[in-house]
Amino acid sequence: MEVIILPSSKEVGALAADAIEALVRNKSNAVIGLATGSSPLPIYDELARRHDEEGLNFTQVRGFALDEYVGLPVGHYESYREVIRREFTNRVDVAPENVHGPDGASENITAACQQYEDAIVAAGGIDLQILGVGTNGHIGFNEPGSSLASRTRIKTLAEQTRQDNARFFDNIDQVPHHVVTQGLGTIMDARHLVLVATGAGKADAVRDFVEGPVSASCPGSILQFHPRVTVIVDEAAAAKLAGAATYRHAYDNKPVWQGL
Ligand code: GLP
Repeated sequence: MEVIILPSSKEVGALAADAIEALVRNKSNAVIGLATGSSPLPIYDELARRHDEEGLNFTQVRGFALDEYVGLPVGHYESYREVIRREFTNRVDVAPENVHGPDGASENITAACQQYEDAIVAAGGIDLQILGVGTNGHIGFNEPGSSLASRTRIKTLAEQTRQDNARFFDNIDQVPHHVVTQGLGTIMDARHLVLVATGAGKADAVRDFVEGPVSASCPGSILQFHPRVTVIVDEAAAAKLAGAATYRHAYDNKPVWQGL
């Protein structure tokens, strides 16, 4: 696991965008795993800027969302499919038919989850998965207690997560209790995981998943088993990392040819 500590969310977003740009320039039909929440927004802003100003091209890129609420009507403003469309894919030239998300409105959620797994495999797997982390250590919507081998399935949100996400809705009663999410096993199949976290509110979660024991109690800790993880955090989110000096030293002395 590579941990990179940068001054602010703008630099965090720009560096994650560098990884995506390098991938897309090397593989025009790359498969990108798309995350929602506030953390990835600077990445999407930067990619949209590079698209507008530098001709970064996404026409053949395929995208797969990490997760989705269950029970929101199709097209709901806060459904993750809409958020991803609004915040990223509509701002660049990703073809709408190349953007996929778990179907939280299906009448047969179990079958829809399996179809989503199959669609990811049919696309050749995810080249780069963008991730954030919840204050309780969740990734995607894999709440504490999630199987470390889980696949795409329905989950019940922790109350903490509903409270954290209430800011996107008029009030907490509107936040669904259920979601469908790529499982931890699904996420671990991606070839490169890029997790971004910013702000003091993420400092405990970052410490726990980077340096704590691997445990279903902190779902993000499963990333310690992945061969290629880039964790990009700002100073505030890095504040509780015991190994911060080591991570800074490694990054400062990283061979340039390695890239991200
Ligand atoms: C949400 C999403 C996650 C996200 C996390 C943190 O509930 N399901 O994918 O990483 O919580 O969100 P934020 O970046 O807004 O703090």
